[in-house]
Amino acid sequence: MRYVVTTSYRPTKEMVELAKKLAREYNVSYVNRRHLSEKLKNKKIDFYYVVDKNLMLSIKWGNNEFFFHQGIAKIRMENIKHGEKDYLIESVKPTEETVVYDATCGLASEALLLAHFSKKVIATEGSIHIYRVVKWGLERYNSNEDWINKAKKKIELIFANYKEYIRQVEDNFFDRVYCDPMFENPIYQSNSLNPLRNFAVYENLNIGDIEQMLRITKERVVIKTNIKDSLYKNIKFLFDEEYLSRKSGVVYGVIKKK
Ligand SMILES: C[S@@+](CC[C@H](N)C(=O)[O-])C[C@H]1O[C@@H](n2cnc3c(N)ncnc32)[C@H](O)[C@@H]1O
Repeated sequence: MRYVVTTSYRPTKEMVELAKKLAREYNVSYVNRRHLSEKLKNKKIDFYYVVDKNLMLSIKWGNNEFFFHQGIAKIRMENIKHGEKDYLIESVKPTEETVVYDATCGLASEALLLAHFSKKVIATEGSIHIYRVVKWGLERYNSNEDWINKAKKKIELIFANYKEYIRQVEDNFFDRVYCDPMFENPIYQSNSLNPLRNFAVYENLNIGDIEQMLRITKERVVIKTNIKDSLYKNIKFLFDEEYLSRKSGVVYGVIKKK
């Protein structure tokens, strides 16, 4: 995919310098925002990174934008505080002592929730563009939610394909392993993941991967699937427990280490 780095309109010197630095790092061109429309008109690029006035990083294409935000994590935490059960927390069962591996970081909404209840979360993301924007957000986004600012600091995000990563980790390294691959049957309705779909890695989780995940966890592996997906049909025999949302069809399947 062809892309450049630019700033929002009327940039400060600091924004321009940062955009130029990122362009060098990504090995692509920096484009002055005033000249971007030309590139877009001539279809020279597929998307562009934008450094905005808060020095936050996003990706734009057409009328779409991908940026780090706390939306879903914040709503889910409010529900938890109001006594509602959250199936991620119910299934993974993080504690202050647990180190959790989140194989599929995405927007880090679930990594933030897991981090709040854990000692540490190590997360991998296989899409370089998602990785860059989310890493930037985790490092620089200043939330009005105290718990998010604290949770962010407990997440270590690594750019890696989990299929390779898990095969290099030693036995029983993590207390819990969590994996939420892209659904075969996506749920598009008001889904915070919609802007991420353009850049996501779409790879099938297979039994060999689950065996590796069981090897590197001390206690359990939790897989999130859509009940309509072939993944669910193929692996449900492994689940010791299932947390199913009847409304959305989303399942958190728990595989305990024997
Ligand atoms: C459904 S999203 C995860 C959403 C996440 N749980 C959250 O709370 O935002 C799946 C993410 O995993 C990434 N992914 C898929 N396959 C991967 C792989 N083999 N290695 C690393 N990341 C992968 C995708 O690029 C995408 O960002």
